[in-house]
Amino acid sequence: MAALALEDATRAAALDAVAALLARCGVEDARRDARALLLAAGGFTAAELLLDPAAKLGAAACARLRDYALRRAAREPVSRILGARGFWTQDLLVAPRVLDPRPDTETLIELSLELMGERRREPLRILDLGVGSGAILCALLAELPDARGIGVDLSAAACAAAAVNLSRCGFARRASILRGRWADALAARFDLIVSNPPYIASGELDGLEPEVRLHDPRLALDGGADGLNCYREIAEQLPRLLAPSGAAVLEAGDGQARSLVALLAEKGLAPAGIRKDAGGRERAVAARRRD
Ligand SMILES: C[S@@+](CC[C@H](N)C(=O)[O-])C[C@H]1O[C@@H](n2cnc3c(N)ncnc32)[C@H](O)[C@@H]1O
Repeated sequence: MAALALEDATRAAALDAVAALLARCGVEDARRDARALLLAAGGFTAAELLLDPAAKLGAAACARLRDYALRRAAREPVSRILGARGFWTQDLLVAPRVLDPRPDTETLIELSLELMGERRREPLRILDLGVGSGAILCALLAELPDARGIGVDLSAAACAAAAVNLSRCGFARRASILRGRWADALAARFDLIVSNPPYIASGELDGLEPEVRLHDPRLALDGGADGLNCYREIAEQLPRLLAPSGAAVLEAGDGQARSLVALLAEKGLAPAGIRKDAGGRERAVAARRRD
Protein backbone atom coordinates (compact mmCIF):
# COMPACT_ATOMS: atom_id res chain seq x y z
CA MET A 1 0.00 0.00 0.00
CA ALA A 2 1.24 3.55 -0.73
CA ALA A 3 2.84 5.38 2.26
CA LEU A 4 1.09 8.49 3.57
CA ALA A 5 2.04 10.09 6.91
CA LEU A 6 -0.68 12.53 8.00
CA GLU A 7 -0.63 12.22 11.81
CA ASP A 8 -0.81 15.66 13.45
CA ALA A 9 -0.40 17.31 10.03
CA THR A 10 -1.24 20.93 9.31
CA ARG A 11 -3.46 21.69 6.32
CA ALA A 12 -0.44 22.76 4.27
CA ALA A 13 1.61 19.68 5.19
CA ALA A 14 -1.31 17.39 4.42
CA LEU A 15 -1.73 19.03 1.03
CA ASP A 16 1.97 18.53 0.24
CA ALA A 17 1.92 14.90 1.40
CA VAL A 18 -1.17 13.96 -0.59
CA ALA A 19 0.00 15.81 -3.71
CA ALA A 20 3.35 14.00 -3.53
CA LEU A 21 1.66 10.62 -3.14
CA LEU A 22 -0.68 11.23 -6.09
CA ALA A 23 2.17 12.44 -8.29
CA ARG A 24 4.15 9.26 -7.46
CA CYS A 25 1.12 7.21 -8.49
CA GLY A 26 0.88 8.89 -11.90
CA VAL A 27 -2.10 11.19 -11.24
CA GLU A 28 -1.90 13.94 -13.86
CA ASP A 29 -2.94 17.05 -11.91
CA ALA A 30 -1.88 15.78 -8.50
CA ARG A 31 -1.96 19.06 -6.58
CA ARG A 32 -5.38 20.10 -7.88
CA ASP A 33 -6.84 16.73 -6.88
CA ALA A 34 -5.05 16.76 -3.51
CA ARG A 35 -6.55 20.18 -2.77
CA ALA A 36 -10.08 19.04 -3.71
CA LEU A 37 -9.78 15.97 -1.45
CA LEU A 38 -8.30 18.01 1.41
CA LEU A 39 -11.12 20.58 1.28
CA ALA A 40 -13.75 17.84 1.26
CA ALA A 41 -12.09 15.85 4.05
CA GLY A 42 -11.49 18.92 6.23
CA GLY A 43 -14.80 20.66 5.51
CA PHE A 44 -13.16 24.05 4.83
CA THR A 45 -13.03 26.28 1.77
CA ALA A 46 -10.11 27.11 -0.53
CA ALA A 47 -10.08 30.62 0.98
CA GLU A 48 -9.84 29.19 4.51
CA LEU A 49 -6.95 26.99 3.43
CA LEU A 50 -5.17 30.02 2.03
CA LEU A 51 -5.79 32.12 5.16
CA ASP A 52 -4.84 29.46 7.70
CA PRO A 53 -2.52 26.84 6.20
CA ALA A 54 -0.90 26.12 9.59
CA ALA A 55 -4.14 24.95 11.26
CA LYS A 56 -4.08 21.33 12.37
CA LEU A 57 -6.27 19.00 10.37
CA GLY A 58 -7.57 16.93 13.30
CA ALA A 59 -7.89 13.16 13.64
CA ALA A 60 -11.26 12.65 11.93
CA ALA A 61 -10.34 14.78 8.90
CA CYS A 62 -6.96 13.01 8.70
CA ALA A 63 -8.68 9.62 8.58
CA ARG A 64 -11.07 10.81 5.85
CA LEU A 65 -8.23 12.34 3.84
CA ARG A 66 -6.16 9.16 4.11
CA ASP A 67 -9.08 7.12 2.74
CA TYR A 68 -9.68 9.60 -0.12
CA ALA A 69 -5.98 9.87 -0.96
CA LEU A 70 -5.39 6.12 -1.12
CA ARG A 71 -8.44 5.71 -3.36
CA ARG A 72 -7.20 8.48 -5.66
CA ALA A 73 -3.72 6.91 -5.64
CA ALA A 74 -5.41 3.72 -6.91
CA ARG A 75 -6.77 5.96 -9.72
CA GLU A 76 -10.38 6.35 -8.64
CA PRO A 77 -11.58 9.75 -9.97
CA VAL A 78 -12.16 12.57 -7.46
CA SER A 79 -15.82 12.85 -8.55
CA ARG A 80 -16.40 9.18 -7.71
CA ILE A 81 -14.61 9.45 -4.35
CA LEU A 82 -16.71 12.48 -3.39
CA GLY A 83 -19.84 11.13 -5.13
CA ALA A 84 -20.63 14.43 -6.82
CA ARG A 85 -19.70 16.70 -9.70
CA GLY A 86 -20.83 19.99 -11.16
CA PHE A 87 -22.14 19.89 -14.73
CA TRP A 88 -23.35 23.05 -16.49
CA THR A 89 -25.26 24.84 -13.70
CA GLN A 90 -26.26 21.73 -11.75
CA ASP A 91 -24.75 19.68 -8.91
CA LEU A 92 -25.09 16.01 -9.77
CA LEU A 93 -24.61 12.82 -7.82
CA VAL A 94 -22.08 10.47 -9.42
CA ALA A 95 -23.23 6.87 -8.97
CA PRO A 96 -21.23 3.64 -9.26
CA ARG A 97 -21.70 1.79 -12.59
CA VAL A 98 -22.89 5.01 -14.30
CA LEU A 99 -20.74 7.21 -16.57
CA ASP A 100 -19.19 10.16 -14.74
CA PRO A 101 -20.31 13.12 -16.91
CA ARG A 102 -17.45 14.99 -18.60
CA PRO A 103 -16.98 18.76 -19.01
CA ASP A 104 -16.59 18.27 -22.81
CA THR A 105 -20.24 17.21 -22.97
CA GLU A 106 -21.20 20.81 -22.17
CA THR A 107 -20.34 21.51 -25.83
CA LEU A 108 -23.46 19.52 -26.77
CA ILE A 109 -25.52 21.74 -24.44
CA GLU A 110 -24.12 24.90 -26.04
CA LEU A 111 -24.93 23.72 -29.57
CA SER A 112 -28.41 22.55 -28.55
CA LEU A 113 -29.26 25.92 -27.00
CA GLU A 114 -27.90 27.77 -30.03
CA LEU A 115 -30.14 25.69 -32.31
CA MET A 116 -33.23 26.17 -30.15
CA GLY A 117 -32.60 29.95 -30.43
CA GLU A 118 -35.85 31.85 -30.15
CA ARG A 119 -37.79 28.67 -29.39
CA ARG A 120 -36.32 28.54 -25.87
CA ARG A 121 -39.60 29.58 -24.19
CA GLU A 122 -41.71 27.06 -26.14
CA PRO A 123 -43.01 23.80 -24.59
CA LEU A 124 -40.28 21.81 -26.34
CA ARG A 125 -40.17 18.01 -26.24
CA ILE A 126 -36.67 16.70 -25.55
CA LEU A 127 -35.40 13.13 -25.92
CA ASP A 128 -32.03 12.09 -24.42
CA LEU A 129 -30.84 8.72 -25.76
CA GLY A 130 -28.40 7.08 -23.33
CA VAL A 131 -29.30 9.42 -20.48
CA GLY A 132 -26.69 8.05 -18.03
CA SER A 133 -26.57 10.23 -14.91
CA GLY A 134 -29.12 12.62 -16.44
CA ALA A 135 -26.47 15.33 -16.87
CA ILE A 136 -27.56 16.47 -20.34
CA LEU A 137 -31.27 16.35 -19.59
CA CYS A 138 -30.87 18.28 -16.32
CA ALA A 139 -28.79 20.98 -18.06
CA LEU A 140 -31.32 21.38 -20.88
CA LEU A 141 -34.33 21.47 -18.58
CA ALA A 142 -32.55 24.18 -16.56
CA GLU A 143 -32.13 26.33 -19.68
CA LEU A 144 -35.44 25.56 -21.42
CA PRO A 145 -37.97 26.38 -18.70
CA ASP A 146 -41.12 25.16 -20.48
CA ALA A 147 -39.58 22.02 -21.96
CA ARG A 148 -40.29 18.44 -20.94
CA GLY A 149 -37.99 15.51 -21.48
CA ILE A 150 -37.68 11.77 -21.75
CA GLY A 151 -34.41 10.02 -20.96
CA VAL A 152 -33.76 6.44 -22.10
CA ASP A 153 -31.01 4.08 -21.02
CA LEU A 154 -30.37 0.36 -21.25
CA SER A 155 -28.65 0.34 -17.86
CA ALA A 156 -30.82 0.00 -14.74
CA ALA A 157 -28.14 1.78 -12.68
CA ALA A 158 -28.15 4.72 -15.11
CA CYS A 159 -31.95 4.96 -15.07
CA ALA A 160 -31.92 5.06 -11.26
CA ALA A 161 -29.14 7.69 -11.19
CA ALA A 162 -30.90 9.88 -13.76
CA ALA A 163 -34.15 9.75 -11.78
CA VAL A 164 -32.31 10.79 -8.59
CA ASN A 165 -30.51 13.67 -10.34
CA LEU A 166 -33.64 14.96 -12.05
CA SER A 167 -35.38 14.96 -8.71
CA ARG A 168 -32.46 16.68 -6.89
CA CYS A 169 -32.37 19.38 -9.58
CA GLY A 170 -36.13 19.93 -9.25
CA PHE A 171 -37.12 18.51 -12.66
CA ALA A 172 -38.91 15.29 -11.64
CA ARG A 173 -42.26 16.59 -12.89
CA ARG A 174 -40.88 17.66 -16.25
CA ALA A 175 -39.09 14.44 -17.14
CA SER A 176 -39.56 10.67 -17.38
CA ILE A 177 -36.93 7.96 -17.48
CA LEU A 178 -37.45 4.80 -19.51
CA ARG A 179 -35.30 1.70 -19.49
CA GLY A 180 -34.82 0.36 -23.00
CA ARG A 181 -32.78 0.18 -26.18
CA TRP A 182 -32.50 3.69 -27.69
CA ALA A 183 -35.97 4.78 -28.92
CA ASP A 184 -37.29 1.28 -29.72
CA ALA A 185 -40.28 1.79 -27.39
CA LEU A 186 -41.10 5.37 -28.48
CA ALA A 187 -43.50 6.46 -31.20
CA ALA A 188 -43.63 10.23 -30.44
CA ARG A 189 -41.79 13.06 -32.19
CA PHE A 190 -39.38 15.42 -30.48
CA ASP A 191 -38.16 19.00 -31.01
CA LEU A 192 -34.70 18.29 -29.64
CA ILE A 193 -33.03 14.88 -29.58
CA VAL A 194 -29.68 14.67 -27.82
CA SER A 195 -27.29 11.80 -27.32
CA ASN A 196 -23.81 11.16 -26.05
CA PRO A 197 -23.63 7.48 -26.97
CA PRO A 198 -20.74 5.05 -26.40
CA TYR A 199 -18.17 5.86 -29.12
CA ILE A 200 -14.84 4.28 -28.22
CA ALA A 201 -13.64 1.54 -30.55
CA SER A 202 -13.72 -1.83 -28.72
CA GLY A 203 -10.02 -2.40 -29.38
CA GLU A 204 -9.09 0.83 -27.60
CA LEU A 205 -10.90 0.11 -24.33
CA ASP A 206 -8.06 -1.78 -22.65
CA GLY A 207 -5.68 1.10 -23.32
CA LEU A 208 -7.81 3.75 -21.60
CA GLU A 209 -6.64 5.55 -18.45
CA PRO A 210 -7.41 3.57 -15.26
CA GLU A 211 -9.84 6.30 -14.15
CA VAL A 212 -12.02 5.43 -17.15
CA ARG A 213 -11.23 1.73 -17.71
CA LEU A 214 -11.75 0.72 -14.08
CA HIS A 215 -14.63 3.01 -13.15
CA ASP A 216 -16.88 3.87 -16.11
CA PRO A 217 -19.14 1.01 -17.27
CA ARG A 218 -18.21 -0.69 -20.52
CA LEU A 219 -21.80 -0.28 -21.74
CA ALA A 220 -21.23 3.50 -21.63
CA LEU A 221 -17.97 3.36 -23.61
CA ASP A 222 -17.96 0.55 -26.16
CA GLY A 223 -18.93 1.80 -29.61
CA GLY A 224 -18.06 -1.45 -31.42
CA ALA A 225 -15.27 -2.25 -33.88
CA ASP A 226 -14.93 1.28 -35.33
CA GLY A 227 -16.61 3.16 -32.47
CA LEU A 228 -19.55 4.15 -34.69
CA ASN A 229 -22.06 1.34 -33.99
CA CYS A 230 -24.30 3.32 -31.65
CA TYR A 231 -24.32 6.30 -34.03
CA ARG A 232 -25.56 3.95 -36.78
CA GLU A 233 -28.34 2.59 -34.57
CA ILE A 234 -29.41 6.06 -33.44
CA ALA A 235 -29.19 7.60 -36.93
CA GLU A 236 -31.54 4.86 -38.17
CA GLN A 237 -34.20 6.00 -35.67
CA LEU A 238 -33.86 9.79 -35.95
CA PRO A 239 -35.98 10.42 -39.08
CA ARG A 240 -39.12 8.96 -37.46
CA LEU A 241 -38.42 10.71 -34.13
CA LEU A 242 -37.67 14.27 -35.22
CA ALA A 243 -40.53 16.80 -35.32
CA PRO A 244 -40.63 18.81 -38.60
CA SER A 245 -38.55 21.72 -37.26
CA GLY A 246 -36.68 19.57 -34.73
CA ALA A 247 -32.94 19.08 -34.36
CA ALA A 248 -30.70 16.25 -33.22
CA VAL A 249 -27.40 16.99 -31.45
CA LEU A 250 -24.90 14.19 -30.86
CA GLU A 251 -21.58 14.17 -29.08
CA ALA A 252 -18.71 13.00 -31.29
CA GLY A 253 -15.57 11.17 -30.19
CA ASP A 254 -12.15 12.48 -31.26
CA GLY A 255 -11.95 12.57 -35.05
CA GLN A 256 -15.47 11.16 -35.54
CA ALA A 257 -17.45 14.32 -36.37
CA ARG A 258 -17.14 14.04 -40.17
CA SER A 259 -18.09 10.33 -40.17
CA LEU A 260 -21.07 11.20 -38.01
CA VAL A 261 -22.22 13.95 -40.40
CA ALA A 262 -21.99 11.41 -43.26
CA LEU A 263 -24.00 8.80 -41.31
CA LEU A 264 -26.73 11.34 -40.60
CA ALA A 265 -26.78 12.48 -44.24
CA GLU A 266 -27.26 8.85 -45.34
CA LYS A 267 -30.51 8.89 -43.34
CA GLY A 268 -31.66 12.04 -45.14
CA LEU A 269 -30.76 14.51 -42.40
CA ALA A 270 -29.23 17.89 -43.19
CA PRO A 271 -26.14 19.17 -41.33
CA ALA A 272 -27.03 21.89 -38.80
CA GLY A 273 -23.65 22.64 -37.23
CA ILE A 274 -20.52 21.32 -35.61
CA ARG A 275 -19.16 22.79 -32.39
CA LYS A 276 -15.65 22.46 -30.96
CA ASP A 277 -14.86 21.82 -27.31
CA ALA A 278 -12.46 23.88 -25.17
CA GLY A 279 -9.56 21.80 -26.53
CA GLY A 280 -10.46 22.70 -30.15
CA ARG A 281 -11.82 19.25 -31.06
CA GLU A 282 -15.04 18.88 -33.02
CA ARG A 283 -17.22 17.59 -30.19
CA ALA A 284 -20.91 18.12 -31.02
CA VAL A 285 -22.67 17.51 -34.34
CA ALA A 286 -26.20 18.68 -35.19
CA ALA A 287 -28.65 17.69 -37.91
CA ARG A 288 -32.19 18.57 -38.94
CA ARG A 289 -34.86 17.05 -41.14
CA ARG A 290 -34.69 18.27 -44.73
CA ASP A 291 -38.47 18.89 -45.09
C1 LIG B 1 -21.33 7.84 -22.89
S1 LIG B 1 -22.66 7.43 -21.80
C2 LIG B 1 -23.50 9.01 -21.72
C3 LIG B 1 -24.23 9.25 -20.43
C4 LIG B 1 -24.77 10.67 -20.26
N1 LIG B 1 -25.71 11.00 -21.30
C5 LIG B 1 -23.62 11.67 -20.26
O1 LIG B 1 -23.43 12.36 -21.28
O2 LIG B 1 -22.91 11.79 -19.25
C6 LIG B 1 -23.70 6.45 -22.87
C7 LIG B 1 -24.95 5.92 -22.19
O3 LIG B 1 -25.65 5.13 -23.20
C8 LIG B 1 -26.20 3.99 -22.56
N2 LIG B 1 -26.45 2.98 -23.59
C9 LIG B 1 -25.55 2.17 -24.20
N3 LIG B 1 -26.14 1.41 -25.13
C10 LIG B 1 -27.47 1.74 -25.11
C11 LIG B 1 -28.61 1.31 -25.85
N4 LIG B 1 -28.52 0.38 -26.81
N5 LIG B 1 -29.81 1.87 -25.57
C12 LIG B 1 -29.91 2.82 -24.60
N6 LIG B 1 -28.87 3.27 -23.87
C13 LIG B 1 -27.66 2.74 -24.11
C14 LIG B 1 -25.17 3.61 -21.52
O4 LIG B 1 -25.72 2.82 -20.49
C15 LIG B 1 -24.71 4.99 -21.01
O5 LIG B 1 -25.45 5.43 -19.90
